[in-house]
Amino acid sequence: MHNGDYSLVTVHARIVDKMYFFGKQRERYLKEREFIHKIVKLEDLGDELIDAGCGTGIHLMLFSELGYKVKGFDLRQDMVNVAKKRNSSLEIVQGDMREFPLNHKSDIIICMYGAINYLDTEEGIEKTFNNFYNHLKEKGGVIIDTRHYKNLDENIKIWTNPEYTLAKRWIKSKDNIGIYRVFYSIPSEGIMEMEDHLQIYNIFKILFYLKINFEK
Ligand SMILES: C[S@@+](CC[C@H](N)C(=O)[O-])C[C@H]1O[C@@H](n2cnc3c(N)ncnc32)[C@H](O)[C@@H]1O
Repeated sequence: MHNGDYSLVTVHARIVDKMYFFGKQRERYLKEREFIHKIVKLEDLGDELIDAGCGTGIHLMLFSELGYKVKGFDLRQDMVNVAKKRNSSLEIVQGDMREFPLNHKSDIIICMYGAINYLDTEEGIEKTFNNFYNHLKEKGGVIIDTRHYKNLDENIKIWTNPEYTLAKRWIKSKDNIGIYRVFYSIPSEGIMEMEDHLQIYNIFKILFYLKINFEK
């Protein structure tokens, strides 16, 4: 289990890690594991799994507990650092899903908790699905958890406790592109950080590119 040494990571990875595997979020991860495991068994997909955009490595930990052979990658080195602390024996590397940094064909690729939405161009989505396709075995399967533009709540949400404050909101712009805006602060350390990025939320576009890359 992750030992709580955050010395190598940014405020972002640190707060995200604390929030993710806590309370309702913890239940969500466990339910996701159950759901994916059921599909894998039903479709007889196999037991080699790659987590694309693995974040702090919680799915990697949960699937290796079930005996899956797992590997993962994330764009952010700070996330990779936390994921590696949590799963010291696993192969977890920094890399971009548009380029796919693991030279390995797997039975299952998962891409969870809106990681796919971080791609901000259609070209990026297409490159990613082409890479997913090329990194799956013949009978493999991909599981993508995507956010839907319609379900985005533009209201600002704030979590605050003695240790940190985190505020986030989505801003909808046209053509189902949104801006994801997050603010973090750790008063005891005088830290404040702000992050903004574009995301594509159009599930139909995502499905379209999935279809053209998987119906080869
Ligand atoms: C909301 S987090 C979800 C993390 C993890 N999948 C989970 O369920 O806990 C989205 C993650 O996607 C990563 N990400 C964004 N764009 C990426 C890309 N092009 N390639 C790989 N990872 C990416 C981010 O760094 C972030 O860690």
